[in-house]
Amino acid sequence: MRFKGKVALVTGGYRGMGGAAAKGMAREGATVISADIIEGAPADAEKGITYRKLDVSSPAAWQILVDAIAAEHGCIDILVNAAGVTEERSEVHGTDLAAWEKVVAVNQTGVMLGMRAVCALMLGRGPLSIINVSSIWGLVAGSGQLSYHASKGAVTLMTLNAAVTYAARGIRANAVLPGLIDTEMVRDQDPAMRAETISNTPMNRIGTADEVAKAILFLASDEASYITGALLPVDGGFTAR
Ligand SMILES: NC(=O)c1ccc[n+]([C@@H]2O[C@H](COP(=O)([O-])OP(=O)(O)OC[C@H]3O[C@@H](n4cnc5c(N)ncnc54)[C@H](O)[C@@H]3O)[C@@H](O)[C@H]2O)c1
Repeated sequence: MRFKGKVALVTGGYRGMGGAAAKGMAREGATVISADIIEGAPADAEKGITYRKLDVSSPAAWQILVDAIAAEHGCIDILVNAAGVTEERSEVHGTDLAAWEKVVAVNQTGVMLGMRAVCALMLGRGPLSIINVSSIWGLVAGSGQLSYHASKGAVTLMTLNAAVTYAARGIRANAVLPGLIDTEMVRDQDPAMRAETISNTPMNRIGTADEVAKAILFLASDEASYITGALLPVDGGFTAR
């Protein structure tokens, strides 16, 4: 029960990797608030998780949610920023501005807003562990998907910035960098694109949401008490090449 007595806020907690992390922490004793653009609880909801609606790109919605959690629980011990969206595959010269703005608003600004609101609540009040879900595309390049790369590159560097900024003040910030993971996000993806990523993955397979959740839980827990600013690939060796 690594998370007994802890309060965890997980964005994108309705399904996928955020969903798996929320469930994993609830099973280990945490009070979990899952915040997602999808309203309501999923069919496989876990005891110990409260499902709230949140658009991570809305500053006002963040403030309302964090104020409500503070009023009810007094603090937030763990913040997992897992909400994210992807885009149609295009190349740099074909970048659609509206699609760019959407991806950046959710993946990049959403993470900033979450860290901003929760750090403001917790600074000087107690330890906080932040885990941001970046991507292999926040470290190395694939072809196309410029906005996704831009947003995940920003998540990687924002994580390092928060880690250094708050290292001596009780806030740890780390990121997981998943490779190709079997979630709704990639199930509709062009099969050729999936096959190409898998063939470039030394383990030669897709990963699971639970495999990423295990890494998130480790970084969230006190077992990682001396770890901040870590960028942990969960990618079957993709970025080791
Ligand atoms: N699946 C992959 O291969 C892969 C690889 C690397 C990184 N990632 C990242 O992992 C994270 C989780 O994605 P996933 O693969 O579990 O996909 P997913 O689509 O199953 O989960 C994403 C969740 O984010 C929520 N969401 C989307 N927009 C939102 C918004 N504006 N506000 C709040 N919630 C919102 C969705 O409703 C969904 O529940 C994302 O940040 C994604 O970019 C995914």
